[in-house]
Amino acid sequence: MRITNQNPTLGVELRDLDIATATKETAKTVASLLLRHLVVIIRDQNVSSADHVSFSAKFGRLEEFPARPGDPDSYDPDKMPWMKYIFRVANERSQGYTKVGLYWHTDGYFHAQPTAVSIMRPVDLPDRGGDTWFANMYQAYDMLAPDLRKKVDGLTAVSRSAPGARSGTGLFSGGPVEVVRHPLARPHPLTGRKALYLNLGSIASIEGLHWRETDDLLKQLTAHIETADCRYCHKWQSGDIVMWENGAAAHMATPPPEGSLRVMERTTVDGVEYFESDFWREAARAAAVVPSYEDQLAL
Ligand SMILES: [Fe+2]
Repeated sequence: MRITNQNPTLGVELRDLDIATATKETAKTVASLLLRHLVVIIRDQNVSSADHVSFSAKFGRLEEFPARPGDPDSYDPDKMPWMKYIFRVANERSQGYTKVGLYWHTDGYFHAQPTAVSIMRPVDLPDRGGDTWFANMYQAYDMLAPDLRKKVDGLTAVSRSAPGARSGTGLFSGGPVEVVRHPLARPHPLTGRKALYLNLGSIASIEGLHWRETDDLLKQLTAHIETADCRYCHKWQSGDIVMWENGAAAHMATPPPEGSLRVMERTTVDGVEYFESDFWREAARAAAVVPSYEDQLAL
């Protein structure tokens, strides 16, 4: 495997790695790079959905999803057991869930132990557009003005809706609604470094704030993410496998031009085992992420 590009904010690009034949040791190296760079882009992977799932499973237990639009007609859960681990997003209703994640968010925010890692593969790409923005939320937190950082430090966000309810996509509507709380400034469960942690589609309120103050603060934080030097824009290429670490990177989809088709398949590593496994502890040690100065003082 070769590192062929490294962005100053977040994101590292790898080549000469075949995910279909990758060993667990290779996966651990990739996990380590992920903890250090927060986004890992593996180029030139012409792999199947099954390969995507088996590679993803090397990083921990995968989250499962209900049957969805875009399932192949021939889909039989017994014959295609990997399909339940794939979440498909598209800009065409018959191909997958639409209007997903067009705002800054981390995946699985609505879980008490949120999704650890997401791994995405393009199935159909438009000629242009449909980019995904990523933000380094360690940096976003570090770059907050001191008074805003002090305010954010004491606040807890409440997610009390099914995913997508606030943004209107209605994903999984009718499913159980969990009420979960996350600190807005959240120490990363593996590295201990504090990151700004939010999902603008899931946060229903912030404890102790009037809804108007909540809206104002979330707008202020969005403006901060978009003006602080902490972002990377990923322009998808066919054959990409892009992984992101939800504890320290936020992301935002952008719609492709009208009339073009964009279909993506995504797997997600459950956050529950992530924090406890030797695999991830060893990857974190190898990544040697240095806590920010403030975090070191607090340790
Ligand atoms: Fe997402």
